[in-house]
Amino acid sequence: MSDTPYDKRDALDMNESLKPIPFGKPQLDQSTFDGVQAVLESGVLVHGKVTEAFENAFAERIGTAHAVAVSSCTAGLHLTLFVKQVGPGDKVAVPAMTHVATAHAVELVGAQPVFIDIDPATGNMDPALLAEAARSKGPLSAVMPVHYLGLPCDMTAIAEIARDQNAFILEDCALAVDATYDGRKAGGLGLAGAFSFYPVKHMTSIEGGMVTTNDDTLAQAIRKCRAFSYNRSLGERVRPGIYDVDALGYNYRMSEVEAAVGLSQLGRLDDFQQIRSRNDAILRQGLSDLPNITIFPDRAGKAVSSLYCLNIVLPKDGSVERDVLVDDLKANGIGTSVHYPSAVPLFTYYKDKYGYRAGDFPNAEWLGQQTISLPVAPHVSEEDAHRIVACVRSGYEKARKR
Ligand SMILES: Cc1ncc(COP(=O)(O)O)c(C=O)c1O
Repeated sequence: MSDTPYDKRDALDMNESLKPIPFGKPQLDQSTFDGVQAVLESGVLVHGKVTEAFENAFAERIGTAHAVAVSSCTAGLHLTLFVKQVGPGDKVAVPAMTHVATAHAVELVGAQPVFIDIDPATGNMDPALLAEAARSKGPLSAVMPVHYLGLPCDMTAIAEIARDQNAFILEDCALAVDATYDGRKAGGLGLAGAFSFYPVKHMTSIEGGMVTTNDDTLAQAIRKCRAFSYNRSLGERVRPGIYDVDALGYNYRMSEVEAAVGLSQLGRLDDFQQIRSRNDAILRQGLSDLPNITIFPDRAGKAVSSLYCLNIVLPKDGSVERDVLVDDLKANGIGTSVHYPSAVPLFTYYKDKYGYRAGDFPNAEWLGQQTISLPVAPHVSEEDAHRIVACVRSGYEKARKR
């Protein structure tokens, strides 16, 4: 490896080479602080105009008719399934490799997740396996494609299967802000999409999420159900405090403070995405020749990734030890993450409930054991990105079993 340009790392001065580079770090600036201060001074902390402004701006960005702010992506997924009356007896397809939130949303409404293994070339739900599961385990009431680390799923194939099943599509866009499929943004590719604004996502609102949809009735139902299913919102009440409740509902609202943070982040998203793209290119180019490494593509067919992070997947045979590499990167001040630490069906809750076993979802299990997520977010400077490459390369050598 001595002939790589990354030997330049040795020439970095000591302080610079030890500067910590966390996996994620929210980029908050004066515009965020000003927005939050204005909300706090206004005294209107929920049910206000800032949330409305954030919703409108987000809908415009994604290109959907509606965006409904909620307290998290999980809340958005749960609410959507709930208002669509998915419940006991229903089956919902979810990928076996995702954040547990996707499957939990299905469990929370009392329906059953049908786990689909992923395509080892992209990390996304494998449409051929979805079709097989629809045949053998269907009918499916809904399909929840998760755009793994920002790369949209094969939505043409998934939509065809969903149509055959009479199932709706709920996209999990937690890591897919600005990802596109066939030129259209994720979040507008199915009936609805749910986004996450958790602190280390593409943009943050502290906690928070957004449901996007072109369906007027669904948007209205989610809006109502996120606030107890009051029949009148605060602004619609003839007399203060007087309302009726004609359905079950949750408290899944976003606060005005969170909306102010989200709105200011949205204004900076173009800059954030440019930096992600530069960093992704540096890491991708600098690491792609590592022996037996898998790096998922930034584009596949009609899909263009939102580049949440650069994940490297170590060989299936365990010939490179993930713990050794992660520890070495940590010793060099480089933060990493894992998306995600287990195939969801093998988390204890699901394993115990449904009797899944190791080997049932080989591709998802491979990722659970061997993927490492490297930072590309806006806190990573160009120099940092080169340092990450150098450290991964030297760590990779140490982690290879001989
Ligand atoms: C794919 C996916 N879905 C859902 C979630 C949950 O998001 P939130 O924390 O906003 O509920 C996450 C969180 O990382 C995720 O990665």
